[in-house]
Amino acid sequence: MAFKPLVFSGVQPTGNLHLGNYLGAIKKFVELQNSHDCIYCVVDLHAITVWQDPAELTRNIREVTAAFLACGIDPKKHIIFNQSQVAEHAELAWIFNCVARLGWLNRMTQFKEKAGKDRENASVGLYAYPNLMAADILVYRATHVPVGEDQKQHLELSRDIAQKFNSDFKESIESRGFGEAFFPLPEPLIQGPATRVMSLRDGSKKMSKSDASDYSRINLTDDSDTIAQKVRKAKTDAEPLPSEQKGLEARPEADNLIGIYAALNDVNKADVLKEFGGAQFSAFKGSLVDLAVAKLGPIGAEMKRMVGDAAYIDGVLADGSSRAQIIAAETMKAVKDIVGFVRR
Ligand code: AMP
Ligand code: TRP
Repeated sequence: MAFKPLVFSGVQPTGNLHLGNYLGAIKKFVELQNSHDCIYCVVDLHAITVWQDPAELTRNIREVTAAFLACGIDPKKHIIFNQSQVAEHAELAWIFNCVARLGWLNRMTQFKEKAGKDRENASVGLYAYPNLMAADILVYRATHVPVGEDQKQHLELSRDIAQKFNSDFKESIESRGFGEAFFPLPEPLIQGPATRVMSLRDGSKKMSKSDASDYSRINLTDDSDTIAQKVRKAKTDAEPLPSEQKGLEARPEADNLIGIYAALNDVNKADVLKEFGGAQFSAFKGSLVDLAVAKLGPIGAEMKRMVGDAAYIDGVLADGSSRAQIIAAETMKAVKDIVGFVRR
């Protein structure tokens, strides 16, 4: 069965939105608006799988919303909302808790990383997190999901859940006229030169919101001076830049900076190397600073302006949530019938 193309993605309101979030996710969200219907979610229910200070959580929900808007997502043509305002996410997640298998979740590397050594003390929510993520996508029967490379395994799990639901309930789905499959198998959109932006201090570590060193990442709200300082201090090696992509192998820091430049400038790594092959890092970093400041400066300034207007942000989220809920409620009605619940 053909499903109507629909894009869904989410970002956690856990502070310090950075260049990795922008290049790996939000920049793609903006681009997809021209070709698809899109739903973009501030996933606050995911955020609380680890402790969040309530006042900070509120601030962070508004800040991610401001980032979506400042980057150019149109909240009238598409949907921007926060997850906790649409209860159907949690409702479908429960059903998926009963579809997904322990063995599948036990393979999730993000849980292992986040839970660390003290696994006994991790929240149950952190463990079940991928089932909620599957529900986020499938409650809209979304078909395409732009994310960074780190979410690939979770997306595969979403597909497995959709497939198992479709096959477990095959007869019920067919007898109710939903065709052969009720849920689409959502496709990850993980493309381009910056699907995994690395720390500026260590080319083997992902750029992350939670890294103790602020110099490891460029935050979307950093001012020009801070961006310049962070790029200049970014770790490199002693060799000049190569002219071919093969020369980036085994040079993770060089590879990362070239990928960042390429993604910010909407070209590929080979194009950047054509321009900078043979150059010293100092010269390349100068150009990277100019580019990063030109692209990120206006976004940061607009975000700062917008977070001052909580009433506007909250209005966008309320409007988006009502529109999202209409779709989600329709799916949940069908899911309840398919599963065999009695409903009003
Ligand atoms: P999170 O902050 O974990 O909610 O991530 C939001 C989005 O940003 C997801 O699509 C992630 O895959 C993406 N993302 C996070 N960190 C990076 C990174 N270092 N490089 C590329 N994409 C990233
Ligand atoms: N797990 C994603 C992350 O940490 C965020 C997320 C939650 C998401 N639900 C989603 C992404 C649904 C895409 C689709 O980055």
